[in-house]
Amino acid sequence: MSMPVDERGFFGEFGGAYVPEMLYPNVKELQERYVAILGERGFQDELSLLLRDFAGRPTPLFEAKRLSEGLGCEVLLKREDLLHTGAHKINNTLGQILLAKRLGRRRIIAETGAGQHGVATATVCALMGLSCVVYMGEVDMKRQALNVGRMRLLGAEVRGVGSGSRTLKDATNEAMRDWIANPHDTHYIIGSVVGPHPFPDMVARFQSVISQEMREQCLTRGGRLPTHVVACVGGGSNAMGGFFHFIGDDGVALVGVEAAGCGLASGRSAATTALGQPGILHGSRTLFMQTEDGQVEEAHSISAGLDYPGIGPQHAHLFATGRVRYVSVTDTEALAAAKLLARREGIIPALESAHAIAALQGLSLSGADRVVVVLSGRGDKDMATYLEAFGEGISDGV
Ligand SMILES: Cc1ncc(COP(=O)(O)O)c(C=O)c1O
Repeated sequence: MSMPVDERGFFGEFGGAYVPEMLYPNVKELQERYVAILGERGFQDELSLLLRDFAGRPTPLFEAKRLSEGLGCEVLLKREDLLHTGAHKINNTLGQILLAKRLGRRRIIAETGAGQHGVATATVCALMGLSCVVYMGEVDMKRQALNVGRMRLLGAEVRGVGSGSRTLKDATNEAMRDWIANPHDTHYIIGSVVGPHPFPDMVARFQSVISQEMREQCLTRGGRLPTHVVACVGGGSNAMGGFFHFIGDDGVALVGVEAAGCGLASGRSAATTALGQPGILHGSRTLFMQTEDGQVEEAHSISAGLDYPGIGPQHAHLFATGRVRYVSVTDTEALAAAKLLARREGIIPALESAHAIAALQGLSLSGADRVVVVLSGRGDKDMATYLEAFGEGISDGV
């Protein structure tokens, strides 16, 4: 294990399982059984086969030559955007649906921001014949309308959430409430490395296939590890997956990219490490943005998947220990990076992933550097935002 969790579910001072009494039996059952179930030969075989034949793993490690030229170093893109359903989220939902089946659960619930986790959950529920309810903030339903349609076509019920900022945090609250009301037949497939123990550790394990492949692919290509791994951080699952097998390699700089929204000082951002404080959010002790009296602050990002006021406990720990450097990128910078990647490499990234691309400029890279960027998802879902943001300028040269 590259990032061990203690028996109470803590990574250093972050983590744990702070859940209402009604949920305690479910969480306890998961805590007691997840390691054994994930370790079963039959489970591993079934998951590997689905990851290969249904999801499309391994994903390529693509040398972005024109981007590399512009930055003066080698840039490799880990193409999670090429996975079935269009993002890394399917790695986790395939794992959790197999777990839910082994726990005898027939009903699945999930929260979603950008809709990618909702689509990935609806997809695996259709595959396995289980019923599916997805909670989604009303703001996100509007900006990610394509994914709402996809979930419905896949047979899921999408329940709009009209409370708070009507985004991911509020959808997560509603999903938690549903689980509390239906603890016996329902499994909650959490979409990131957040929530009570064992979710952060379990989701990181399912996503760790990203860095497992990256490591092998880097060694096959020139026999050397990357100097940097860069990934965007919403709750932090694609980043944890991308960092996982490099945490013990001191020579590999790990960079998490958060959403600065309209700017760090604007009061409209989602840059948790820059602005957050320790506290308990969605069942674990972690860092999140708070008002003066400790309430959860509303986050803002143009990207629905990064529009979350917290990060998972592993990231809080990696931040506190200094192993990962966290930077932030504004809405405007992310939009420009999306356009750049489209024009330079023929890849339209998800707005979330565009944040990781945008961060490259600030990293003082040089000729000897080999940077792997986790391209967590594709941009189809964000076309309406791109069209609105670029307007007439959409056909300008770079
Ligand atoms: C494409 C994509 N990347 C990144 C994220 C952020 O999530 P996480 O930080 O868990 O990877 C999302 C969330 O919806 C997403 O859809």
